[in-house]
This record gives sequence, C-alpha cells and structure tokens, in this order.
Amino acid sequence: KISKVVARRVWDSRGNPTVETDVYLENGAMGRAIAPAGASRGTREAVDLRDGGDRLGGMDVQGAVANVNEKLAPAMIGRDVLDQKGIDAQLIEIDGTKLKSAIGGNAMIATSLATLHAAAAYNEKPLWAHVASAYGRKPTMPLPEIQIFGGGAHAGRRVDVQDFMVMVPGAETFDEAMEITSNVYRAAGKIMAKRGHMAGVADEGGWWPVFSSNEEALETLTQAIEDAGEVPGERVIISLDIAASEFGNKDGYKLALEDRAIDTDGMIEILGKWIEKYPIASIEDPLAEDDVAGNQAFTKAFGDKVQIIGDDYLVTNAELVRQAAKDKACNAVLVKVNQAGTVSEAVETFEAANEVGYRSIVSARSGETEDVSITHLSIGLGAGQLKVGSFTRSERMAKWNECIRLQEEKEIGAFVGGEPLKNTWWK
Ligand code: PGA
Ligand code: ZN
Repeated sequence: KISKVVARRVWDSRGNPTVETDVYLENGAMGRAIAPAGASRGTREAVDLRDGGDRLGGMDVQGAVANVNEKLAPAMIGRDVLDQKGIDAQLIEIDGTKLKSAIGGNAMIATSLATLHAAAAYNEKPLWAHVASAYGRKPTMPLPEIQIFGGGAHAGRRVDVQDFMVMVPGAETFDEAMEITSNVYRAAGKIMAKRGHMAGVADEGGWWPVFSSNEEALETLTQAIEDAGEVPGERVIISLDIAASEFGNKDGYKLALEDRAIDTDGMIEILGKWIEKYPIASIEDPLAEDDVAGNQAFTKAFGDKVQIIGDDYLVTNAELVRQAAKDKACNAVLVKVNQAGTVSEAVETFEAANEVGYRSIVSARSGETEDVSITHLSIGLGAGQLKVGSFTRSERMAKWNECIRLQEEKEIGAFVGGEPLKNTWWK
C-alpha cells in the first residue's frame, strides 16, 4: 500500500523547472519519476501546468507540485500500488479536465510514472520486467532512432524540418547500432566543421543546422552516412520528423527556407521528391495535425514505402489512433507518456496501435532529464523502436546507456533490428 507521495521542483535539460514525484510504500519501497517537457506540442496533448507571471519566465511549477502534494497524495495514500489502472483513473477523475490542465500534465505523469516505479520496486523487479509482466508483453531491445541534426522549434527555426535522424535496422545488435550512429554523428560534425558550419548543438544535442535549404541537410546527412563507411539505405536509413504543425495547417504551409508558401499537395510533392532521392524510410508528422486529408493522401501515396508516424497528429491518444486507422492516415504512432498524462493511457494507446496494426515508437521529449523510464517502457512493452534525440548530452545518452546495460539481461529478447521492419519498407 502507498504510504506517502511527495513532489518537488527539479530542472530539465533546457534548465526549465519540472515536477519530480516520489511514491513510498508501507514496506519501505519507493518509486520516483520526473516529468519531461515538449517544445513542439500537439494541441490535443495533456498540457503542463506552469505558474505564469514573471518568476522563471512564467515556467515555474509550484502549482503543479502543490497539486501533487495537496490533491493527488491524499487520494493515493492507502491504495494498492499494483492497481496502476485504478490509481490513474483516480488521478484523471481528480483533474476532471480533457487536457489535464487543472492538476497539470506534468504533475500527473510524474506521479503516474512514479507509481509504476513503486510497483516494480514492490515486486522486486526492474521496471522493464514489471512492465512486461503487468501488461503481458514480451520484452525486446528496441531499434534506436537518433537525431544527427536538430531543426525547427529546437534550433531557432534555422531549418523547417525538426529532426534529421538515422536508424540502423541493419545492425546485428543494439551495440552495433550505437557504434554506427556514433560514426555518422562524428562524420556529420566533420562535414559541418569543414564547411565552416559548426555552430554547436540544438535542443536535443543534434548538430545546429547551418543550412540554406532543408535539402542541404538531407544531402549532408547522406554524405555523413557515406563518410561513416556505410552505403546509405543499406544498413543505415534516414528518418525525418517534419513536425509540420509548427509551420502550417490544412490551409497552407510556410517553409521559411524554401521562401514560399505551399498547399497540402505542394508539401506532399516536396516530401515525395525527398523520398525518391534520399534513403528515407520513416517520416513523422509529414502534414499538420489538422490536415486529415493531407495525412490520408500522403499515407495513400507513400504508406507502403515509408513508416508514417503520427506524433502531434495522434498525441498518444488511443481514440485518435483508432480514428486514424479508419481514416487510413499514418501507419505508426509515437508514444510519449506525458502527451497522454498517465501510464495507463499511454499503454492503452500502444495497445490500440497493436490492434490496428500500427508500429509504435516510444519517445522522449525535447526537454528531458536523467529519468530513464522510457527505456524501460520501450523494452518492457516490446515496442520495437525508441526515439530519444541525439547521440550527445547525458539526458539522451542516459537512455541509450540504459539499453546497453539491459542487453545483458537474458529475459530480454533479441534486438529488434530489421525484423519487424523488414519486408515492409526497409529494403
Ligand atoms: P517536443 O518534440 O518534445 O519538443 O514536442 C519532439 C517531437 O516532435 O518528436
Ligand atoms: Zn514529433
């Protein structure tokens, strides 16, 4: 039984305040989790409660922390920690709003995740093993999706596209995927330095994108894959997060770098050309979150060639995943626990994705911390893919390093590698 719940203010990778919750049990066990924070958020995701005003640029979370300590804690004390679903339902009821704006998505997810950690501690299991047994899943080592250049809202909108990433489905092991990614990251850095384009890193640690077009970034990334001794499209593929809601909607898109406004068809045409020309195997949010027709048309045109991930479009919401399947928009879902606001809702989204045949990618946010819960979730659920940001900065590397440690666990199945991806779009 839960005996004590305590929240406090800690700080994230952007130096912004965030919520950490501890859940203590009568037997002395405890669980702890920290809320991450997004910068390019979907309009339908759970919203963080920030204090506003002048203090800390309005970003403080005293209200959210107080909500945990004063409103959530009293309702949780005495409850069975293994009843994650019941506890999450109660948190949702106490909040009572659609987007968790009363208690705050940050307060909710830190508390919900800390409960999951406490349950794992009660069962004397590592989190991944608790998740696998609680949700009846076969744990696997995920395929990492790693950012090489950061753009969009994470890099002062220097380029329109938000993430230029690589995946190494051709690697035999997780370790090998890390090594190849490291080579690509370093090769990309060398190219930037040689061209006098070295300007530090973006929010998630990918190289700051000093490019004069989105396409130049794609060319450079392809070159970096070659310089790393790989044949682009063989073992290593490119993955993009367009995050199109950041620069457009169903009525039109304004690509700063292309210096022209385009409509949905124009966007699809540009992306289609990139897919033709570069070894792109995955695209996230190709069109804006309100552009249902655009997402449908894009999926119709390229759904058999590339993985099409809904992030802002699906906001880790089971209902939206089911609707997208009916609409034939996207073929994969990004699972961000704080978009949902509770662990149970995030897992429900993952289960809905399985039902409709969508792949799932467990994902970090651009604002992260040392919390490695998502590594355990992706492994424990057997989600198959994990997106964390780049290959630098410890809030990112902590997640990859946790995967490396867990490779040694016999009960964790093989590295996903190309397996579930093969025969569809990779090769
Ligand atoms: P965010 O972006 O965490 O800043 O919202 C990440 C993403 O779009 O995948
Ligand atoms: Zn995204």
